[in-house]
Amino acid sequence: MSLILHALLFTCAACGVLFPLKDGFPDPSPLQLLSVGSHSLGTLSSGSLPATISTEGITNLQLLAFNEMVAVAFFSELVANLTEGIEGFNLLPGQDHVVPAIVATLQQEELHAVNANAALQHFGVNPMAPCTYTFPVASVEDAIYWASVVTAAVLGAQHGVIQNLAENGDVGLVQGLVSITGQEGEQEGFFRELQGKIPNELPFLTSSTREFLFSALRRVADPLCASLEGISLPSFFPLDVAIFPDPNSPIITLTYSALEADCSSLSVVYTNQQNPPIVKPIMFESITEDLITVKAQFPQDEFSINGLTIIALTSQPGPFKDASDVAKATVFGPAFVIL
Ligand SMILES: *[C@@H]1O[C@H](CO)[C@@H](O)[C@H](O)[C@H]1NC(C)=O
Repeated sequence: MSLILHALLFTCAACGVLFPLKDGFPDPSPLQLLSVGSHSLGTLSSGSLPATISTEGITNLQLLAFNEMVAVAFFSELVANLTEGIEGFNLLPGQDHVVPAIVATLQQEELHAVNANAALQHFGVNPMAPCTYTFPVASVEDAIYWASVVTAAVLGAQHGVIQNLAENGDVGLVQGLVSITGQEGEQEGFFRELQGKIPNELPFLTSSTREFLFSALRRVADPLCASLEGISLPSFFPLDVAIFPDPNSPIITLTYSALEADCSSLSVVYTNQQNPPIVKPIMFESITEDLITVKAQFPQDEFSINGLTIIALTSQPGPFKDASDVAKATVFGPAFVIL
């Protein structure tokens, strides 16, 4: 296995992933693609693309390509960490299946990215280029947790993308994207199982939006990443969970920067499953020079909250119809909780 990996990857744990990867990603030759295909257990999609696309459709493809690049960088780094004996990244006995599964994930994400970039080029738009990324993980447990939260966020956002494709007449892109969404759901089940959870999270997964995914992924990308400037989506200010709610204490503690925006009248909004977003007032806990800490009720029992919840601070208290409605009023966010 490690011979194959060293041939595939061009990474070092300390310096992050360097592109292009050894297999040619993001621009593999036809021969290199064959090799990526064999590790990904399949082939690049050869479904035909429509002749035209809406402006929003271009944004959708750019966001998907950006998202897949982040995934490729993350899983490249994770495979390197797992196979190079990096401290904190030792697997337990009985976990021999993990590396081959993550290698397949990496290669599948590469094909998703190549696919999205090929579609952009088909429509006469520049492909997305990878940049450098910094991931907030220092152990295999952190990495699997981060992968599960981000994959859940991606799955939710793909609902928003598919809805947007439908609304803009880009029906020719729907089938291929749904095939990716299901595939990412399989990945998510694996990450959940590794955390001792039941693989299948909810009957109806939480829907998110393109805007929330863009803001969440920007946090790991180099702020100067040129490719991101071409994506016509708003970015919100960062929001973090300082203390997660638990069954004995249905309260969440959130932090955000005091420097970014007028923070006088914000509401916290929770989007969970396919239900109307829940709005609660925030209670100021402390304000230092640059960091604001607030608490809010996290009404998990009252609203049967489970699985992924998307948290945003909005400039007005709603009511909101859905995640996309919440995004229109969001100032800080998203943060995520998975119960
Ligand atoms: C890989 O390990 C390095 C060193 O501990 C760490 O900084 C980085 O975040 C890790 N990345 C992943 C994706 O596991």
